[in-house]
Amino acid sequence: MSSLAVTAQVTDDQMRRYAKMIYDVAGIEISLAKKQLLSNRIRRRLKESGIADFEQYYNFLKKLPISHAEWDGFLQEVTTHETYLFRDDSNWKWLRGTFLPEFQKNGKSSLRVWSAACSTGDEAYSIATCIADGVRNLSATRIQIVGTDIGVGAVQEANDAKFNERAMRLVPDDLKRRYFSQMGGASIWEPNAKLRAMTKFRQHNLLDRLAESPFDLVFLKNVLIYFNTDSKKRVMRNVEQVMKPGSYLVAGAAEGISDLMDGFERIHPWLYLRK
Ligand SMILES: C[S@@+](CC[C@H](N)C(=O)[O-])C[C@H]1O[C@@H](n2cnc3c(N)ncnc32)[C@H](O)[C@@H]1O
Repeated sequence: MSSLAVTAQVTDDQMRRYAKMIYDVAGIEISLAKKQLLSNRIRRRLKESGIADFEQYYNFLKKLPISHAEWDGFLQEVTTHETYLFRDDSNWKWLRGTFLPEFQKNGKSSLRVWSAACSTGDEAYSIATCIADGVRNLSATRIQIVGTDIGVGAVQEANDAKFNERAMRLVPDDLKRRYFSQMGGASIWEPNAKLRAMTKFRQHNLLDRLAESPFDLVFLKNVLIYFNTDSKKRVMRNVEQVMKPGSYLVAGAAEGISDLMDGFERIHPWLYLRK
């Protein structure tokens, strides 16, 4: 067990090495000024893993493949997972009021959506809810919503699909009634079988190409804010390659990608059309 004093911090050199390792693995840029914060986060992993100090833990992680459970635990500590259904009203107004009616009008028989960096799946199930509600001939339409996240634990939670009241608080009442049910009267909500059938989740690092056929719609929100320009560029190249011409990208308003969008037409600060 760790015998570190509560105040112990990583040294400047360790901070630099940890920050580089996190950047190399996940593209996330950690400010060197956040020594105390990072130390506190790592300390929780030391306790969990029984490793004695920051140096040993660094050497331990360095040798592990990113698919190892300890990497997942570490990344959970250094990334933000905040998410909830129907986050950012304008996105859902556009999806329900513009995108889905257009899709319907064009008479297309399949729709593929990627919820990239989906955390616990809240965004993917919001998309599924809007599609279930907005596509008239649902059974004759091939719908697939692929949710991905670097965190194995997050992907597991997305597959479990259990949402508390806080996560559900912005789901419009009529949609909540029609597409979710409460488990045993408790304050945990589950999506119905229709929504589940449309969604699948898998682990994926945005720094890598996603081996999937192209999408009609991609959501990429609240993740690139933690990346620097080089890793944003790398992610955007990967994202662009799996988008069909004429497909849409819904981005977070603060993602900081507007200068990297040569292959796109900007419709709103958060919405891009792939040329
Ligand atoms: C704040 S959540 C955003 C969830 C959802 N997109 C939303 O806007 O509500 C950020 C997620 O990005 C994931 N993430 C961070 N770096 C990643 C990477 N390199 N590849 C894939 N996912 C990553 C984290 O694990 C976390 O679940």
